[in-house]
Amino acid sequence: MSDKVIIFDTTLRDGEQCPGASMNLREKMEVARQLARLNIDVIEAGFPVISDGDFEAVSKIATEIKGPVICGLARCIAKDIDAAGAAIKAAGERGRIHTFISTSKIQVENQLKKQVDDVIPIAVECVRRARTFVKDVEFSPMDATRTDPEFLVRLLNAVIEAGATTLNIPDTVGYTVPEQYAELIGYLRANVRNADDVIFSVHCHNDLGLATANSLAAVRAGARQVEGTINGIGERAGNAALEEVVMALKMRNDYYGGVTTGINTKEIVKASRLVSRMSGLMVQRSKAIVGENAFAHGSGIHQDGILKKRETYEIIDPRDVGWGETELPLTKHSGRHAVAKRLEHLGYFLNEKELGSVFVRFKEIGDKKKFVYDDDLSVLVDDSIDAHLEGYTLDYIHVASGSSTIPTATVRLKRGEEILQDSSPGNGAVDAAMKTIDRILNQQGHLVEYNVQAVTQGKDALGEVTLKCDFGGGPLVTGKGASTDVIEASARAYLNAVNRVLSNKTQGQAAPASDAP
Ligand code: KIV
Ligand code: ZN
Repeated sequence: MSDKVIIFDTTLRDGEQCPGASMNLREKMEVARQLARLNIDVIEAGFPVISDGDFEAVSKIATEIKGPVICGLARCIAKDIDAAGAAIKAAGERGRIHTFISTSKIQVENQLKKQVDDVIPIAVECVRRARTFVKDVEFSPMDATRTDPEFLVRLLNAVIEAGATTLNIPDTVGYTVPEQYAELIGYLRANVRNADDVIFSVHCHNDLGLATANSLAAVRAGARQVEGTINGIGERAGNAALEEVVMALKMRNDYYGGVTTGINTKEIVKASRLVSRMSGLMVQRSKAIVGENAFAHGSGIHQDGILKKRETYEIIDPRDVGWGETELPLTKHSGRHAVAKRLEHLGYFLNEKELGSVFVRFKEIGDKKKFVYDDDLSVLVDDSIDAHLEGYTLDYIHVASGSSTIPTATVRLKRGEEILQDSSPGNGAVDAAMKTIDRILNQQGHLVEYNVQAVTQGKDALGEVTLKCDFGGGPLVTGKGASTDVIEASARAYLNAVNRVLSNKTQGQAAPASDAP
């Protein structure tokens, strides 16, 4: 059996299914580029049949991202397979189709309205169809951990014969526990015909907080592909956090029989921050590996030990996962070239127009704060590009508020040559700013979630606002905005959400489909 564990990232598919985490095309491309720098083996780029936007993202990733295998997801339905095959075409030999169908009695009988045995010919037919597009076909019996293992063996034998090369065993509802999952993987490897000619893969959800533990137990039992997401984002409690799986395999290589991954671990923290910003999902401070506090030692005894010898209380060198890699900050005197170079270093390859927008914001911020740090720059990229691509930009905002005044905002928006201005009172400065934007655009957004976070330290730090809005009917929309003034940051974030709705309409992006797995 190979010593290499294939790392399969589904941040852009299962991760993006998390409510309010949907990303636009630019954000997906940025995440995909960072996944390539991480040296991820397989990127599941999306579910092409679900919307034009997903199809476009998968095709663009297949065209532009070099290195990893690019995978498109498909139900066991002909039109899904055809869409996935077309979307990944540009990846050529690096293209993979991942097709799945429910196999547990509870899902097959209640959702598919079939009997479990009916699933075998459907799966075989779909794997065969997928093989007409690519040699690399992954098959998932959905809800495998609640499926009869003997039935799984019959089904897997049939799909291998039809041409499946990777067999993924999903713990779709996060039901299994480590010993039981390892037993299942061991049983399947022992009983499926030609098991050594295929890769057994695992895909764990975190409903019981066991996704990482289950994935690792499966590796001990012979799984050689682990699926998961950066920061563990995903439906409900999320998927296995790949940074945890990768670092556990690296640090406890002794226990896991010398297996290796090809991951460039120094890129982990950057990937985590990027995904957090792009998805609008914060990383909890105490999150393993990538949380702000993951390497912060509070107790005096620990600090003393660390100072004497780091390994006394730290099992991972923080630099190995990319902590502490910050460069000298830029200032308002830094030129466009220096900003472009630093952005490239951070993984942003912007065209001239985009760079121009970021540079304008950089100068504005540089006038307000002494140093512009790498994290500030990353936030400015989000803050400036999307608004300039499609929709409205904030031209001016004035808010009057205080303990004995009715908070009132005046806002001026620009879209091309069009200039729109109005004012409105509100229940506070932020509310007034958002109500004014609603009034100008003749809409009514409902704020579902609102977070403000200082991007760096210090009183002059940029405040980054991340919010989720309901504009009626569709999915929740995330908006992000940054400024040294949190009211302005809030207005920018709200406008960013509005612009995303506009751009989704023009890109024909659908709501996350109800039949998404
Ligand atoms: O959780 C799940 O079962 C899935 C499949 C599509 C692999 O995401
Ligand atoms: Zn899943």
